[in-house]
Amino acid sequence: MATIHPFLWFNTDAEQARDFYLSVFKNSKALQTIEYTDWVSGTNKTVPHATFDFELEGLHLTALNAGPQPPFNERLSLYIETRDQAETDYYYEALTAGGGRAQPCGWLTDRYGVYWQVIPEILPRLSADPDREKANRVRQAMYGMRKIIIADLEPPMPARPDPHRNRNERRTLMTSLVDRKVIVVGGSSGIGLGVAEAALNGGAKVVIVGRSPEKLLAAERTLNAGRVTSVVADMTDEADVARLFDEVGPFDHLVSTAGTLPPGDPIGSTDMEAVRGFVDNKLIGAVMLSKHAVRTLKAGGSMTFTSGINKDRPPVPGGSVVSAIAGSFSYFARALALELAPTRVNVVSPGWVDTPMWDIVGEAKSSFFADMAARLPSRKIPTAADVAAAYLYLMESDFTTGETIRIDGGHNLI
Ligand SMILES: NC(=O)c1ccc[n+]([C@@H]2O[C@H](COP(=O)([O-])OP(=O)(O)OC[C@H]3O[C@@H](n4cnc5c(N)ncnc54)[C@H](OP(=O)(O)O)[C@@H]3O)[C@@H](O)[C@H]2O)c1
Repeated sequence: MATIHPFLWFNTDAEQARDFYLSVFKNSKALQTIEYTDWVSGTNKTVPHATFDFELEGLHLTALNAGPQPPFNERLSLYIETRDQAETDYYYEALTAGGGRAQPCGWLTDRYGVYWQVIPEILPRLSADPDREKANRVRQAMYGMRKIIIADLEPPMPARPDPHRNRNERRTLMTSLVDRKVIVVGGSSGIGLGVAEAALNGGAKVVIVGRSPEKLLAAERTLNAGRVTSVVADMTDEADVARLFDEVGPFDHLVSTAGTLPPGDPIGSTDMEAVRGFVDNKLIGAVMLSKHAVRTLKAGGSMTFTSGINKDRPPVPGGSVVSAIAGSFSYFARALALELAPTRVNVVSPGWVDTPMWDIVGEAKSSFFADMAARLPSRKIPTAADVAAAYLYLMESDFTTGETIRIDGGHNLI
C-alpha cells in the first residue's frame, strides 16, 4: 500500500528545524538522515543537500535542505488538534517561541516560517452546533483571537463563590474581578502563582506569563480552573513583551511579580554583569511592561508591581543594589499613577515569603524561616496565598493609586 507524508523544504536549516520539532513534540523521534554529494549553499559549499526524516506523534515527515526557495505559505498548514487549554497553550507558545509569529484564528508561523494551526477539539464541535446562532457566535469570537481561548468561545463560566464575603454588595469603591482579564507576569511560581489563584477565586480570567513553558504548563494544571491561559515571554525582551500584549488583547489588570535572585556581593567586589541582569529583570522589565500594557489596558484598570523588604532592611553587606532597585519601584509607581490617571499604579512590598525562590538555600530553609518567624512581630512566614491578598486589594480598590503596600509581618520594624 502506498503511503503519504508531508515533505518540507528548508533553505539550509532542515536539521535544526527537525531538532526544534523533536523538542516541541514529546512523542517524537528522528528517523533516517541522507546526505547527498552536492551543495545547497552555492560556492561556499558548506551545507550539503540532505533529507532528515522524523516522526511527530506518529506522523512521518521529511525535512530537506533545498537552498533558497519560495517561502512557506498558509496554503498548506500542519493542524494540531488539542484536548484542552493547557495543551493549546503549550503548542502555541512552544511553536511561536524564538521568532515565530501568532496569526489569527489559532494559526501561527514558527521560526522557520512553517504554518501551523493549534485548534482545541471543541472548536469544530461548537462551530458545527445545530443551533446556528450559537455556532456563529463561536466563530465571531474566534475571529477576534490569535491563540484560541476556549473559555472565551462560549459564555463565561459563573464565578466561583467567594466563601469569605460578598464584595460587590458591601463596598462602593471596590470593583469586582468577575470576568475581568488579569495578566500575572511571574504567575508560574511563588507569589505570582498565589496571585493567579486568588484572582481566579475572585472570578477573573487569568493569563500567567513566564519564560519557561514547562513551568507555565505545570502552573496551569495546578490552577486547573478553565479560565487560566499562559503566554511564554521574557520581560527583558521588548519583542516578547510587545507580542504578549498583542496576543492577550484588551485586559483589565496587570500584576508583575517576576524577578530573579538579586546580586549580593559587597560593593568592592560587585559583579557588574549580575547587577545589569538584575536591573534589566526588575526595573527595565517593569518599564517595558508598562510601555506596552498601556496600548490595551482597559479604562478602570490597574498595574501592580513587586518590590520587597530589602529596601527597608537591606541585607548587609551586599544589599545596596537590591535596596536601590526595590526602593525605586515606589517612585516609579507614584509618577506613573499621575501620568496614567485614572489608571491606577501601585506596588506590593512583601517581606520573606515561603516560595520556590528560597529553594536555593536547600535544607537550611526551615531553620532560616524558624529564626526569622521568631523575630517577626507577626511570628510567622507567610505563604504566597497570604500575600496575594494585597495584590487583590490593589486590583479591586478604585481609590488606591501611587501606593506601596507593605505586607511583611512587621519585618520593616525590627
Ligand atoms: N519570596 C520572597 O521571600 C520575596 C520577598 C520579597 C520580594 N520578593 C520578590 O517577589 C518577586 C517574586 O518572588 P517569588 O518568590 O514569587 O519568586 P519565584 O517563585 O522564583 O517566581 C518568579 C517568577 O518570575 C518569573 N520570571 C523571572 N524572570 C522573568 C522574566 N525575565 N520574564 C518573565 N518572567 C520571569 C519566573 O518564571 P520563569 O523563571 O519561567 O521565567 C517565575 O514565574 C521577586 O521579584 C522577588 O524578588 C520575594
